Amino acid sequence: MTPQASHLIPPHGGELINLVVKSERAAELRAHSKEWPSWDLTGRQLCDLELLLSGGFSPLRGFMNRPDYEGVCHNMKLANGTLWPMPITLDVTEEFANSLRHGSSKIALRDPEGVMLAVLHVEDVWQADRKAEADAVFKSTSRLHPGADYLLNKSHSRYVGGRLEGLQLPSHYDFKGLRLTPAELRSEFSRLGWRRVVAFQTRNPMHRAHQELTFRAAKQVEANLLIHPSVGMTKPGDVDYFTRVRCYQLLLSKYPQGTVKVSMLPLAMRLGGPREAIWHGLIRKNHGVTHFIVGRDHAGPGKDEHGKSFYGPYEAQELFKRHEAEIGVTMVPFNMMVYLEDQDKYFPDNEVPNGSRVLNISGTELRQRLNEGREIPSWFTYPEVVQELRRSYPPRHKQGLTVFFTGLSGSGKSTIANVLLTKFLEMGGRPVTLLDGDLVRKHLSSELGFSKEHRDINIRRIGYVASEITKNGGIAICAPIAPYDAVRKQVRKMIEPYGGFILVHVATPVETCEQRDRKGLYAKARAGIIKEFTGISDPYEAPVDAEVVIDTAELSPEESAQEITLHLEQQGFIGVNGDLANVTAARA
Ligand code: PPS
Repeated sequence: MTPQASHLIPPHGGELINLVVKSERAAELRAHSKEWPSWDLTGRQLCDLELLLSGGFSPLRGFMNRPDYEGVCHNMKLANGTLWPMPITLDVTEEFANSLRHGSSKIALRDPEGVMLAVLHVEDVWQADRKAEADAVFKSTSRLHPGADYLLNKSHSRYVGGRLEGLQLPSHYDFKGLRLTPAELRSEFSRLGWRRVVAFQTRNPMHRAHQELTFRAAKQVEANLLIHPSVGMTKPGDVDYFTRVRCYQLLLSKYPQGTVKVSMLPLAMRLGGPREAIWHGLIRKNHGVTHFIVGRDHAGPGKDEHGKSFYGPYEAQELFKRHEAEIGVTMVPFNMMVYLEDQDKYFPDNEVPNGSRVLNISGTELRQRLNEGREIPSWFTYPEVVQELRRSYPPRHKQGLTVFFTGLSGSGKSTIANVLLTKFLEMGGRPVTLLDGDLVRKHLSSELGFSKEHRDINIRRIGYVASEITKNGGIAICAPIAPYDAVRKQVRKMIEPYGGFILVHVATPVETCEQRDRKGLYAKARAGIIKEFTGISDPYEAPVDAEVVIDTAELSPEESAQEITLHLEQQGFIGVNGDLANVTAARA
């Protein structure tokens, strides 16, 4: 079966691009590659490369040159006039860009393991005006807009454009049967005799409202349904794609048999709202799709600093509609689906009869309910999906956590940390590791001194180990001095996505620590025998973001540990709440 059987929709630009070369050419390129500079692709570039090589971005044949880029930014058109709304550029460092020669350099593009995936024939190198790009493409330069934030604060300043020759697609070892390239999906549609296919783009788990919406859309346009989730980079904080894909698979049984397929799209989303909707439509066309669902606030980046949405709720639908003929894919617009309690049914919000009681649960509310182990009603989502979500997002009392002490030498951190350790062991249920300052210095950081640079490295190492423990459901108790605020915040950021992070400031004043001087270090510091001693000859930045502050003049070590335990209980990380949550989870 040819992938481009005649009854399938033509790809954008008329030809399905495949940039992966034959094995003889690949061998030739590999043999020459030792002379070329290498660029290790970032996560986002890896996603873009995959869709360039596979033809998901047809008609593009490489990373954009400047004329295409300018046309796309300002008119949503490639230099030859073809509609294309999103810049696809290879951003590199200034230093790397300076080492290239336009028209003659070749770059070996490599994955994180160093495997060469493609060769870029350098045609254009320029310094991008990323602010102008953000204004033109996203109409925003806000840090709260993930696309603009990436562009302005994470991407590199130089762009390299040119034709690509692919050696292989990036490797994936997960859900192999669900990662269909445009050619594979097209041939699958031919095989199944699917002439009309409506695609649903998503970056979230699907609940009953989504099932209802997609089912209605498919019925409305008499098409088969392709659930086509983006599994490259999505919005920070989204549910991981492994969990999502397991949820989508569970949902398949809710549709009439043989009418729906799931395939994963390795797309790095920009959350560019209206422009992104068109881009999504074109990518789906390349995958053989004829109809595309555009919902409320499609690919929306959320709200700005003033709590205002970056785009209007139906702006994506409006822009798509204006370009529908050029896109070549029929839009299936949909309003938000809401649940009508009286009728036990879902309706688009513009079809709700006056005075009806409608119910909805937001993503934030869902996350809260999962965290607290509270009930998630079956009108909202299917019990199988809830169970799957609970496996990945257990209630807090089953999540890992880090208790991170900070305070001066001799403040009492280690003593309290040891009491806390035994309390956790007594409670049982989760493995506990104590990363005490002295122990870490002996086993992890023996080569480090006490300069700011070395202290920061030390704290980052502790943070890394604690984040691994937290990720795997254990409890990490850390007790370094950790005198610097910025690195403490970095550690918090490393850990919070995986579980709890509780900063405990043991706020014993330096005078008291010095009076106690249990190790005799303060005397040595005063005598100048120990240099850079925290609180004496080195700074200590007291935290203002500590969850718990302990005054050891008032509290014994046991009482201090009790304060921390009470805070953890109140936050749901330990305690009776846990048992109640278990019962609810089992019932749901
Ligand atoms: S840091 O700043 O977080 O990396 O420090 P940490 O790893 O916790 O190490 C502190 C322990 O090392 C001993 N020590 C010093 N502390 C502070 N400043 C200087 N210059 C210094 N030299 C040695 C000291 O015993 C600290 O242990 P604690 O348990 O905090 O008293």
